[in-house]
Amino acid sequence: AAPALVDPFGRAVSYVRVSVTDRCDFRCVYCMSEHMQFLPRQDLLTLEELDRLCSAFIARGTRKLRITGGEPLVRHGVMSLFEGLSRHLDSGALEELTLTTNGSQLARFAAQLADCGVRRINLSLDTLDPEKFRAVTRTGDLSRVLAGMDAALKAGIAVKLNAVALRGVNDEEYVRLVRFAHERGMDMTFIEVMPLGELEGLARIDQFMPLSEVRARLSEAFTLEEIDYRTGGPARYMRAKETGGRIGFITPLTHNFCESCNRVRVTCTGTLYMCLGQEDSADLRAPLREGPSDEALYAAIDAAIARKPKGHDFIIDRAAQAPAVPRHMSTTGG
Ligand code: GTP
Ligand code: 5AD
Ligand code: SF4
Repeated sequence: AAPALVDPFGRAVSYVRVSVTDRCDFRCVYCMSEHMQFLPRQDLLTLEELDRLCSAFIARGTRKLRITGGEPLVRHGVMSLFEGLSRHLDSGALEELTLTTNGSQLARFAAQLADCGVRRINLSLDTLDPEKFRAVTRTGDLSRVLAGMDAALKAGIAVKLNAVALRGVNDEEYVRLVRFAHERGMDMTFIEVMPLGELEGLARIDQFMPLSEVRARLSEAFTLEEIDYRTGGPARYMRAKETGGRIGFITPLTHNFCESCNRVRVTCTGTLYMCLGQEDSADLRAPLREGPSDEALYAAIDAAIARKPKGHDFIIDRAAQAPAVPRHMSTTGG
């Protein structure tokens, strides 16, 4: 078998996040600008190319594959990609096939996703207040997302909720979000907002909230216990004694987790980013299109992994005039 991918710092790359579209039906203030220019459809990798790309990573040791966007479920035909990739679950080559979604299309797709072997999904939900939800997502409808969430749970899929902590937006709601999640058997994860892409209005540096503050607020309502639970992602988990449920903390700014980084990202045009917080990238589309053999693709992946940086350079810089990284979060889907 082809060798597994290991970077110069000895970190095995076993988790790949593949974006299947840069489009989304929402315009979350921390992710997209109000007026986004989307890629022309002919620039995207085809579904066949996406399957080949994912399969090449799996052949090189990827154990966890997350489909992202934009919003992955707005890509036409995306279910056929999941159906195809599920063969790697059947063969045991892949441990987890999953996605991160805004939930708007989940009611339609939940049962099919479950049939494709998707056991656990991450759903973005920053607030339970319909008006705030509209303000954060600009175009989103909370009731639709909640219907999607219910459909996923009904299909037997475990759901983890993700909330980006935003001062002045959802800072009064953390306890409520945890209760909401735990009552339904879901994990609740909080994320520190990262400075990616030019954004207007909200989600600027004054909205940044360190998760130490979120944790302090949660400690007023819950007894938080350390637990040893890992999903292969960057979250550190605790248990709320009163509910028995888990709370995850993703702290790219205040507690860097790069040391144990196991992941890379590929955009919908086949650009490989070795780090979410760095610009360096490698083109995988040209080697994919070179011919039916995967040799050129493997060579491009190997060359890129050899350049995987030690970590990101996100910092909290209140005087910054420009985002730390110029591309928007929607390019890589987080
Ligand atoms: P699990 O499998 O549930 O652990 O998922 P996950 O946390 O890997 O995936 P999810 O899509 O829920 O990601 C949550 C967010 O964590 C991402 O959107 C990013 O905001 C952040 N994140 C994940 N990986 C990294 C990373 O390598 N660097 C940085 N800076 N942030 C990351
Ligand atoms: N900082 C932190 N998290 C973000 N997300 C999107 N943009 C940002 C950002 N700038 C989150 C979404 C989703 C996950 C993929 O990333 O809310 O849950
Ligand atoms: Fe869409 Fe997710 Fe970005 Fe919101 S965070 S605009 S739902 S891709």
